[in-house]
Amino acid sequence: MKKLNYGMVGGGPGSFIGDAHRKSINIDAMATLVAGCFSRTLEKCQQTGAELGVDPARCYASFEEMAKAEAAREDGIDFAVVVTPNVSHYAACKAFLEAGIHVSCDKPLCLTVEQAEDLVRLADEKGLLFLVTYTYMGHVTAKHIRKFIADGKLGKVRTVMAEYPQGWLAYEGEWGGTQGAWRCDPAQSGGVNCLGDLGTHVENAVATLTGLKVKRVLAKMDIVVPGRVLDDNDVILVEYEGGATGCYWTSQFAIGHDNDLRVRIYGEDGSILWKQEECEKVTMISREGTIIERHRGNGGIEDCAAAYGRLPSGHTEGWLESMGNLYKSFITCLNAKKDGTFTPDMIDFPTVHDGAEGVKFVHACLKSNANGNVWVDL
Ligand SMILES: NC(=O)c1ccc[n+]([C@@H]2O[C@H](COP(=O)([O-])OP(=O)(O)OC[C@H]3O[C@@H](n4cnc5c(N)ncnc54)[C@H](O)[C@@H]3O)[C@@H](O)[C@H]2O)c1
Repeated sequence: MKKLNYGMVGGGPGSFIGDAHRKSINIDAMATLVAGCFSRTLEKCQQTGAELGVDPARCYASFEEMAKAEAAREDGIDFAVVVTPNVSHYAACKAFLEAGIHVSCDKPLCLTVEQAEDLVRLADEKGLLFLVTYTYMGHVTAKHIRKFIADGKLGKVRTVMAEYPQGWLAYEGEWGGTQGAWRCDPAQSGGVNCLGDLGTHVENAVATLTGLKVKRVLAKMDIVVPGRVLDDNDVILVEYEGGATGCYWTSQFAIGHDNDLRVRIYGEDGSILWKQEECEKVTMISREGTIIERHRGNGGIEDCAAAYGRLPSGHTEGWLESMGNLYKSFITCLNAKKDGTFTPDMIDFPTVHDGAEGVKFVHACLKSNANGNVWVDL
């Protein structure tokens, strides 16, 4: 497989997720960072570029300039990674798609349904691949659950309980640092905080694991911590196509919870319990009540999921490997595009279509909440 070249937007000094993307891509050494617009100022961009060994001539003052310049180069980037706060996702992704460059963007995809539909249209029209990094769905155990349910081994799913509580924004002020500040600022997060940040992970996790499609939602979105102007605790009732139901909870003031994404799936033939903080295992309960704990690296994990493991069981893999698994499939597909062997069934990562579903879910919830907690169709 050919090693590809990529560029990054965001991921400058003191930032969080950009560095995680770089490390995850490096796990399989399938791509090299060669360009970037790492920050809003050229000075900070060049600082990060120097730290990462990027040619100063390929450190850009804006993502628009980067997209144009990289598209014009013989050796231009194969894909762009967008890891800025939510407000600039749309414009940055659009700039690269219009320049004919494949895109990876962190969640939430963008701010509005119109923007999401535009990105879907652009990517589809231009035949470009678009990864949305719902990180947790790269876990081997998540892939195992998805295959198990898709093969009908849990029977028809009857109900889902899913939650993502955090406690890091339990107080106003300096508590959440830079990352907390922009999430709570409507101008930078797009008028939704907790549900955009955490609820999109919950929506995508349930959709990916179960294959269920949301039909309608009833949302109660609360602003609880004094001083906040956006939601920091959300409870959502969900009805899926086919009649199954779900209940989602996200919170940022649940002291004692870090990144506690959990999904419980109850089917006709058994139940599945999964939590990302213990991502190496999944609990499966049969209709007779037999409780089985499957571990990554041991037998009993579906082959297509087990293939993503890199280490023997007990040598723990985690969040970076999970993100690495998304990139492994994305970059494999990009290579296949280059040599003409790509087929859509090779895609084993969340795409722009999945990202758009997340944006639609958030907006249906906002509408439900604004109209007095009524059911809203998606
Ligand atoms: N997948 C996950 O689990 C996960 C986890 C955390 C964050 N995220 C997402 O990642 C994104 C970034 O979050 P973060 O916590 O890393 O934020 P951050 O504030 O730590 O970093 C953002 C970076 O983007 C840069 N930036 C801002 N605007 C820019 C622009 N116009 N051009 C170039 N650079 C710009 C900033 O200077 C900074 O370096 C958000 O969309 C967030 O929702 C996803």
